[in-house]
Amino acid sequence: MQNSKKGKLVCVGTGMRMAGQLTPIAQSYVETCDVVVAAVPNIFARKWLQGIAKEYVCLLGYYSDCDEEGKDRRDTYRRMADTILAELRAGKNVCAAFYGHPGIFACISHMAIADARAEGFSAHMEPGISAEDCLVADIGIDPAKTGMQSMETTQFMIYERCLDPTALLILWQPGIAGDLSLKRFDTSTQRLQLLVDKLARDYPLDHEVILYEAATHPLEQTRIDRLCLGDLPHANVKPITTLVIPPARAMKIDQAMMDLLNAAA
Ligand SMILES: C[S@@+](CC[C@H](N)C(=O)[O-])C[C@H]1O[C@@H](n2cnc3c(N)ncnc32)[C@H](O)[C@@H]1O
Repeated sequence: MQNSKKGKLVCVGTGMRMAGQLTPIAQSYVETCDVVVAAVPNIFARKWLQGIAKEYVCLLGYYSDCDEEGKDRRDTYRRMADTILAELRAGKNVCAAFYGHPGIFACISHMAIADARAEGFSAHMEPGISAEDCLVADIGIDPAKTGMQSMETTQFMIYERCLDPTALLILWQPGIAGDLSLKRFDTSTQRLQLLVDKLARDYPLDHEVILYEAATHPLEQTRIDRLCLGDLPHANVKPITTLVIPPARAMKIDQAMMDLLNAAA
């Protein structure tokens, strides 16, 4: 029978900035669940969570799995989801916490929720504030203005994708652009050049792009560095950087549709 087992799972996001971006409902789960299982890299946010959780299990050490021969990020994510499930099978109410939004570029929470439900546990996700939410606020762009495309950088590179250069483009994880090993946490000038070469099919090399890094605590500065697309291979692109590419062309009216709409009731 569904949801018949003792133990519940909730996946929450801690937001991008320390403490202040954790929603009240997420905080109440952190405080009241039997255990918080978390992958929160910011040390201050982690210490704060440890202070309010009844029990805290840190998943960050699992990233060293990638150093082992034959293992990659998929093994790390599987082991993190399995750790969450083990706490649930022990009959605990589990809060799994991830930075940003727990379901945006965070496959562990999706895996854990699917596994938990398949085993008959109750499991759900609470939304959080993602890097994309912060960049809309910090850079001052409204996705409604031109529409927005949002995708993972390496996915864009290795698949045949159709870009719309009249819409805003957000590329996540440019800091690991072109990593096919699923083991590395960096990129290279050569791989960034290949990214630029592919983007240059739709954007001129002198098109302005933005390297964005949201501040993660009050003493940190938000990075909004504007540069030409052609200069990207030599820029400092970090694991936390998000690449923002504003539209390169104005939208063109679809006159045939306008005529049909004008004639419609
Ligand atoms: C594994 S994803 C995690 C996303 C996160 N769950 C969220 O909701 O934003 C990592 C990517 O998120 C983006 N990111 C993480 N921290 C960021 C920050 N401080 N500022 C801007 N983007 C960030 C970068 O694109 C980075 O490569």
